[in-house]
Amino acid sequence: MLRVGFVGWRGMVGSVLMHRMREERDFDHIEPVFFTTSQTGGQGPDIGKDVPPLKDARAVDQLKAMDVIVSCQGGDYTTEIFPKLRADGWNGHWIDAASTLRMEQDAVIVLDPVNLDVIKNALVSGGKNWIGGNCTVSLMLMALNGLFRENLVEWATSMTYQAASGAGAQNMRELLKQMGEAHRVASDLLNNPASAILDIDREVAGILRDERFPTDHFGVPLAGSLIPWIDKDLGNGQSKEEWKGQAETNKILGREATPVPIDGLCVRIGAMRCHSQALTIKLKKDVPLDDIIGLLDGANPWASVIPNERDITIRQLTPAAITGTLKTPVGRLRKMSMGNEYLSAFTVGDQLLWGAAEPLRRMLRILVE
Ligand code: HSE
Repeated sequence: MLRVGFVGWRGMVGSVLMHRMREERDFDHIEPVFFTTSQTGGQGPDIGKDVPPLKDARAVDQLKAMDVIVSCQGGDYTTEIFPKLRADGWNGHWIDAASTLRMEQDAVIVLDPVNLDVIKNALVSGGKNWIGGNCTVSLMLMALNGLFRENLVEWATSMTYQAASGAGAQNMRELLKQMGEAHRVASDLLNNPASAILDIDREVAGILRDERFPTDHFGVPLAGSLIPWIDKDLGNGQSKEEWKGQAETNKILGREATPVPIDGLCVRIGAMRCHSQALTIKLKKDVPLDDIIGLLDGANPWASVIPNERDITIRQLTPAAITGTLKTPVGRLRKMSMGNEYLSAFTVGDQLLWGAAEPLRRMLRILVE
């Protein structure tokens, strides 16, 4: 059995990973060892079988005893520990949720329903570094797998509606605190059916702009508002999140040499953990809509087409419907007024599942099998 070391299993992505691994009985097939940055000697998580006491996540000699290391500890940990391990001659498999190594030549961005061929080729050539993709990119590719697989996409733009979880657990808490504040200042008026809506609105607008409004993590209000910038400012008018769309999509697909142009605008909204995206896709040819639906629906077990009708769309193509599930539905499919090669689409997916934990546990399963 492979000895698999886990680092960062207590955090948000790590906890989702542990939960999914228990659900899929992944621990039956490995010898798990849990590491910690703060509680060496403590007790590991309940995974349905005995595990040794927690080991020190900075002890390179102990990490080196692993065949595989799975890290959800974050980019700083990867930057500190990964080079030391490799410099020390460790030749095991490194599976990582952090973006640090993603664009390295010898790293594969793992999303096996989309790029199993890229993963298998890298394995044959001795690849050892397996990195989870940006959540927005992975969710887009899961949903649009059928079109990319048939090489039908000439270019695409993606306008995103990204959830608080993408910014971190503290941001999810802050979103809820902001919602609570917005409700608190309006609650007396809200309870009075005779109150005027503009009075309610004035109270809410007032608290959103009040310096006491809780914004330590987002820096600005998200509840009752939105934030049209995600991640760093690259200085050319593009955010880093927007840059990842094209860079990571083409690396995942193994087509850096002939990249599909993908660009758009990334926006944070007040959803908890589901990212949504509105896409305009320029097809390479005029493919009939029924054929497109068939390709998208059949591409993988998680992608499904929601008919482009009002009632089913507002019930099934939303963060509220999809949160906590592995579904990556796509809907609002129609040819746009610009011409028959222009397709509109809307997709939703859980940012912590296919957007983070799921590709990692599946990569581990590929190594085990
Ligand atoms: N960068 C993403 C976001 C999450 O901020 O929503 C991680 O992929």
